[in-house]
Amino acid sequence: MKTYIVGNWKLNFTVGEASIYLHKLLKSLPIYRDIDVVVAPSLLALQPLSLQIDRHKMKLAAQNGFYQDYGAYTGEVSFSQLRGIVDYAIVGHSERRYILGEDDKMIAKKVDAAIRNKVTPILCIGETESERAFGETSDVIKDQLAGGLREVSDDEIDKVIIAYEPVWAISSTKAAKIATPDEIADAVKLIRKCLADMYGVKLADKVPVLFGGSVNSSNAGGYLTVPGVNGLLIGGASLILNEFVDIIDTAKRVRS
Ligand code: 13P
Repeated sequence: MKTYIVGNWKLNFTVGEASIYLHKLLKSLPIYRDIDVVVAPSLLALQPLSLQIDRHKMKLAAQNGFYQDYGAYTGEVSFSQLRGIVDYAIVGHSERRYILGEDDKMIAKKVDAAIRNKVTPILCIGETESERAFGETSDVIKDQLAGGLREVSDDEIDKVIIAYEPVWAISSTKAAKIATPDEIADAVKLIRKCLADMYGVKLADKVPVLFGGSVNSSNAGGYLTVPGVNGLLIGGASLILNEFVDIIDTAKRVRS
């Protein structure tokens, strides 16, 4: 299976800054056939950046998309509009769940709309610090997986990527903690078991599972060697070009 290195730029960089970053990234990036390098800029930057990138070297992701294809939905951008511009879309990120109130029902519709429009959804799941403290981690993971994948059939599950992002490990979370490889291994094992229960082992094994939460160039190698982890979803460190390039180089080293 490929390795995925995905940079989530969140609400950072103007279109101009994003373009300069990408220009430099493309210059320092060889073509890696076994690594998918992906960045998720703001929606505003996607169209111009899609004309700038070399798709052999890297791909674009949206940070969000709407579940209807068109209509009276002021302020939304649909997956049918994103089609052809991005290859991936982050769906159900914890910042959208907890700041913007997205629930599993809406997230399921977005996953479905992404697949319908040939965009690979990166479905984010993960427990908060208090859910972990109350021993609810497994229930949260199971519920968010079952909820988010509600509309995904056996024929479609190989078009989905799962990202395990425990909210307590995300750098913007107050007093964020660094997840240990053992904690990630346990969660990823559970994710793979849930997927196998839902779709059977053979199909579940085809689903890439990424880890995200305070990933940087120093810990990326350790996280990439956690059994069952196929890549990384990176926030803060992906905004620093050298860090992001170091993480991609680490992935190449670890995976070859
Ligand atoms: P950080 O890497 O800044 O912790 O962010 C993780 C994240 O939320 C990526 O989607």
